[in-house]
Amino acid sequence: MVAPDTGARAPLSEHLPRTTGMDRILIRGGNRLSGTIPISGAKNAALPLMAAALLTEKTLRLTNLPYLADITSMANLLIQFGVEVSIDGDNNGENGRAIDMTAAQILDTTAPYDLVRKMRASVLVLGPLVARFGNAEVSLPGGCAIGTRPIDLHLGGLETLGAEIELEGGYVRVTAPKGLTGARVEFPKVSVGATENLMMAACLAKGETELVNAAREPEIVDLANCLTAMGAKIGGVGTDTLTIQGVDELGAAEHRILPDRIETGTYAVAAAITGGDVELRNTDYALIAALAEKMEEGGISVTATEGGVKVACPNGRVDGVDVKTEPYPGFPTDLQAQYMALMTMARGASMITETIFENRFMHVPELVRMGANINVHDSSAMVRGVKRLTGAPVMATDLRASVSLVLAGLAAEGETIVNRVYHLDRGYERLEQKLAACGVDIERLKT
Ligand code: UD1
Repeated sequence: MVAPDTGARAPLSEHLPRTTGMDRILIRGGNRLSGTIPISGAKNAALPLMAAALLTEKTLRLTNLPYLADITSMANLLIQFGVEVSIDGDNNGENGRAIDMTAAQILDTTAPYDLVRKMRASVLVLGPLVARFGNAEVSLPGGCAIGTRPIDLHLGGLETLGAEIELEGGYVRVTAPKGLTGARVEFPKVSVGATENLMMAACLAKGETELVNAAREPEIVDLANCLTAMGAKIGGVGTDTLTIQGVDELGAAEHRILPDRIETGTYAVAAAITGGDVELRNTDYALIAALAEKMEEGGISVTATEGGVKVACPNGRVDGVDVKTEPYPGFPTDLQAQYMALMTMARGASMITETIFENRFMHVPELVRMGANINVHDSSAMVRGVKRLTGAPVMATDLRASVSLVLAGLAAEGETIVNRVYHLDRGYERLEQKLAACGVDIERLKT
């Protein structure tokens, strides 16, 4: 058991991955991936689940916790508030780790700029804090450099539940001294984070809340299941209308974080792009169905196994197939860059349309430097498959863009060096080890 050593506010950094660092990854491309890859718990489920610990004075235990820099940031944010946090388990095991969080004594309800700027998901503490303590202050978020990414839907929803919102000096202050009151919140746009924030807040509001046009991502279902285990009353889980009956308090629970579908999809592409044969373990075909259908249409074999997914490339090459990103159950925006890497070497052309985020084609110029043929028109990219890519030094400014360059590097001739690996460390646990175990020639160059 690892506990912070100098009181509740000691940062956990020494026990978790660094959140900064300029390491690089070197890949000598051309090896076929073969073997098995264990999939970690989902980062995008873990972050809201950790924020949910703020809803109760009792202990929330999460298992299958991934070992990632974003988890460090969220753990440090909770510690800053006064939450007791301890983390258990080894860093290299297949079962992830366990985290115990007890928010019995909250000293502070301000999320400072230094922590929030590293990770946009910090905004997820707003709902739980204001619901339980009547106030919260969060620096306006940073995170990935993809588009403007406002938080108006989070704030508008909390206002509908009776909170008051003030913006000052780069901070947003949300107050509800008499508590929140259940109401009907209709989101004008589907938002994963706003749905999570409002669902958590509504659990402790007075009366019934209806969330209409809610997101339906598997991570939202996972959060709803955990909240239910804590004593929340949530109906319509998995649909776009959630009905939440507020309760006076929530209690202790233990919850296993669901597998990371974006990591699953990323390694599925890694197998396909190298013409390989890989089994992804501790995951579920249903989580990547939208990607799997497109890959199958292109001639890749993606099949469910007991406890995982098998990906093989019987024809040695994939055909170009169009995709358009959409809220779940559509094709995930978080797999768009990886899928584009696959399409760069496809037979024929494909049109990739991004509907969720503006400015999410930052990987395109780097892929082009590796020999890809891609033209962007507004929110669509036309990718004409080429016979070969060549290795190059590349860099990207967000998490999924960075990993798409790693994927291209796996198939490229020669050496690829991916700079700014800290983006990868935010979302991919032991990336080099997992790929190296399947025959990839890859190493981390420490700075
Ligand atoms: C989550 C994921 C992220 C993923 C995204 C979409 C986490 C921690 N992150 O991010 O990896 O790419 O879902 O699947 O789970 N929007 C507004 N106003 C708001 C909130 C969002 O206009 O208040 C817009 C965004 O700019 C974007 C769209 O809504 O265009 C969807 O964003 P949202 O679903 O909220 O993404 P996140 O929850 O931030």
